[in-house]
Amino acid sequence: MQFNTFIAGNFMNYLSKFTVIWSAFIIFHLTACAQKTQPTLTAPLKIKIIIGSVRDTDTGKKIATNIKNSADKNQSVTTEIVHIKDFNLPLYVDPIDPGSKKTEITDPILKKWSDTIKSADAYIILVPEYNSGYPGSLKNALDSIYTELHNKPVAFVGYSGGPSGGASAIAQLKQVITKGFRMITITTDINIPHSWKAFNEDGTLITDISQPVNTVIDQLIAAYSNTQ
Ligand SMILES: Cc1cc2nc3c(=O)[nH]c(=O)nc-3n(C[C@H](O)[C@H](O)[C@H](O)COP(=O)(O)O)c2cc1C
Repeated sequence: MQFNTFIAGNFMNYLSKFTVIWSAFIIFHLTACAQKTQPTLTAPLKIKIIIGSVRDTDTGKKIATNIKNSADKNQSVTTEIVHIKDFNLPLYVDPIDPGSKKTEITDPILKKWSDTIKSADAYIILVPEYNSGYPGSLKNALDSIYTELHNKPVAFVGYSGGPSGGASAIAQLKQVITKGFRMITITTDINIPHSWKAFNEDGTLITDISQPVNTVIDQLIAAYSNTQ
């Protein structure tokens, strides 16, 4: 009887120790998994907001400013607006493919463009819709470089005169960006339809986009963290 009680007591003792050890192991494992999926940044993510239009209009600039103002409230990122128009990029005529360039770019205009784009961790590209596609100016600017964009996360903001908000332009550009440039796209696009009547007099967008901009930033941070 006493022997049985001794055995039962020891068994219960071992069982409780075993349970404590296993619980600690499971908690440790779950915490490690949670930390793995949580994006960690050692410095604010550098985002360039690229205006894809080179036309003499201020639509792209106004949209870029709205996005920057929303994004800059997030301490995890720093943003800069890059207007392709300011670079006066020529049509790309260099006989060497940008992707196979082994030496430093010597052309000062191309070098400035390349350095500007290279210095970002991620991008938000503003895409106006032209004849159900994206502007040739944007394609030329992208085709003038290559490795500068490689494996980096990118988000799209489409805008158009019609009701789609640049959906077709984004769809076309996404194919080039993923298949050609092997960049990392995120799930959220922002669409601004009827661009000619999308703004208040002070240039702010009538439809507030701060929430989608926050989502885009979270997704860019997560995508960037996955590449590190
Ligand atoms: C050449 C050209 C083609 C256009 N094609 C379309 C179109 O297919 N669908 C649409 O909804 N809007 C179209 N638009 C309207 C533009 O998307 C709209 O005006 C936009 O705000 C232009 O942006 P931007 O001034 O920054 O270039 C077109 C405009 C231009 C100049």
